[in-house]
Amino acid sequence: MNENPIGIFDSGVGGLTIYREIHKLLPYENTIYLADSKNAPYGEKSKKEIIDLSIKNTEFLLKKNCKIIVVACNTASTNAVKTLRERYNVQFIRTQPGIKPAALNSKTKSVGILATQGTLKSDLLYETSQRFAKGVNVTHQIGEGLVKLIESNKIYSEEMAGLLKKYIQPLLEKNIDHLVLGCTHYPFLIPQLKEITGDKVTIIDTGEAIARQTRNILIQENLLNNSKSRPERYFYTNKNKVVLQQILNQIDSDLMAEKLDF
Ligand code: DGL
Repeated sequence: MNENPIGIFDSGVGGLTIYREIHKLLPYENTIYLADSKNAPYGEKSKKEIIDLSIKNTEFLLKKNCKIIVVACNTASTNAVKTLRERYNVQFIRTQPGIKPAALNSKTKSVGILATQGTLKSDLLYETSQRFAKGVNVTHQIGEGLVKLIESNKIYSEEMAGLLKKYIQPLLEKNIDHLVLGCTHYPFLIPQLKEITGDKVTIIDTGEAIARQTRNILIQENLLNNSKSRPERYFYTNKNKVVLQQILNQIDSDLMAEKLDF
């Protein structure tokens, strides 16, 4: 069982920001990454559609004998993980925007969160803000269009620069000192975001915390892979292999994207 892969899925290439942290922390684990790019963006879909797509991705990964599933997508995590946990007898690790650390550390008592519409209107996000951000002003900003541009390989485009300015400027006017990235695609934008926010704003990306949580659950369930051999790592997309490959190249020159129908 222990040598079975960790399954990771996202609506597209964004979950690779979680994958790279998992691989850093657990370098001998076999992994299967699923980019459902054909159906991206999830953020504009209904809760029911997000749940159905998450079930489809989970079924695929379970057929490949994954021992644990990392839902490397905030939109699917905040909308579908509850249903997935009820339905399947496997552990799910969910991603969640880091509102808690942002609110706890904010000196200006004002933080911003950039996420998809689906995440921002989820019950889970509402409950997290209620619980952990009392007395702190949390400003929501939908990152409309950002996932689409990343999925089209336009991270460094004029269009992207324009959207980021448009979304971040109003948050800066609210005197935020923390910007929470509530979508796993957005860490690819950190260099550009930093240029806009300058040094006074701390950007919160939960990738490392998700990787630690994955390791903790594997230890707790006695599922760690104890072999020290080179891991098998698969990366599947149901859309454009080139986009996935370009991002993989930035992570590790050994990684290969494969196109599949799912
Ligand atoms: N990476 C997904 C997330 O974390 C993107 C959602 C989308 O496809 O809109 O929310």
